[in-house]
Amino acid sequence: MGVRLGILGLGTVGTGTVQLLQDSAGRHPLLQEIEIYRVGVRSLDKPRAIELSTEVLTTDLEAIVNDPAVDIVVEVIGGLEPARSLILKALSNGKHVVTANKAAIARFGAEIFTTANQAGVYVMLEAAVGGGIPVIQPLKQSLSVNRIHTVIGIVNGTTNYILTRMQTEGSNFSDVLADAQRLGYAEADPTADVDGLDAADKIAILASLGFDGRINLQDVYTEGIRQVSKTDIAYAEKLGFVIKLLAIAKRDTPSSPLSVRVHPTLVPQAHPLASINGVYNAILVEGEPIGQVMFFGPGAGAGATASAVTSDILNLVAVLKTNTAVANPLLTCGHQEYCQIAPMAELITRFYARFLTNDQPGVIGKLGTCFGNYGVSLESVVQTGFQGELAEIVVVTHDVPEGNFRQALAEIQNLSAIESIPSLLRVL
Ligand code: HSE
Repeated sequence: MGVRLGILGLGTVGTGTVQLLQDSAGRHPLLQEIEIYRVGVRSLDKPRAIELSTEVLTTDLEAIVNDPAVDIVVEVIGGLEPARSLILKALSNGKHVVTANKAAIARFGAEIFTTANQAGVYVMLEAAVGGGIPVIQPLKQSLSVNRIHTVIGIVNGTTNYILTRMQTEGSNFSDVLADAQRLGYAEADPTADVDGLDAADKIAILASLGFDGRINLQDVYTEGIRQVSKTDIAYAEKLGFVIKLLAIAKRDTPSSPLSVRVHPTLVPQAHPLASINGVYNAILVEGEPIGQVMFFGPGAGAGATASAVTSDILNLVAVLKTNTAVANPLLTCGHQEYCQIAPMAELITRFYARFLTNDQPGVIGKLGTCFGNYGVSLESVVQTGFQGELAEIVVVTHDVPEGNFRQALAEIQNLSAIESIPSLLRVL
């Protein structure tokens, strides 16, 4: 007998998955064992790009997760509810779940995985991060013998597309965002992408797998790209950097707290992540003894995401076929403890800051003195431009604890010669 799927949702990802499953020639032979048994949709009347019989399509999603004939539930409706409740119900009913839902996993992972472990079933989530890029399974399996130091990702295609266009065209954020919305690269409500929330969900998931513990999403420092200006992109380029929205999880030693954060970052032009452009995603993993490994590919799209969803389905088909009663620890998420997250004030990083100042003698000296008072050492100081009457001074620091840097800035803000500090960015 075939393995029966109950698919919840027939949007971009659901449609791509059905299309892949209906066209199995030349792919893994186990795909032929899969039956698309039920597909839950909001409306039966909507025209669709795929053919499914009327017995398969239903608007009753609850009935799918409660149907004893369904072996695997594929949740691709997205959003928090009813996705969370349907996943929990499916798991409680002893069904394996495949999901692409990073928002639900990042927020409700603890209850979802606890429920799965109690029921002795698996939750697979390859499509939740990086679209078609295999990164969840490598972190769980192929790289899991390494002591991971760093996971750094460009994990949001929308913001990478916007920043790439700002860089190549010298355009403003708001102009590129409006055009990206017109072209369908950005949502009408772009908040989750441009404010870094989508990337925060994704790095919380990657950090949990890389560093073997639960992550409280509220602990992930999150800053989006709205405040990145074309002026800063141009200065960054002059200084040998590109600006990327990075999602970073880092731990210096197995006993030190984890730093997990999302923010626009100046990336050296020679760094492997600097050349990831447009809607593409990449995730760089550093571990011992392996060194650096980078995963690169399409972070969204029907076909790419369907590839990830269907590979999860295939793993579960293999589990069901071998009929093992013992949970495979390389497929479960069994973390019980939360990772200890370091406060941002303790983060050691380089900074880029841009100051608008009165053009008078001694300003650079005063800036240097304030920084020196808090142990902030400067790597470069550039004064090339003016904005009206005001001089524009850009500094890049050496590595410094963020708390020291902030204290120095507070003192600098009070200097009479300083008009404003329009930009402050971290440097990789
Ligand atoms: N909104 C996401 C992005 C795609 O722009 O990368 C889905 O994760």
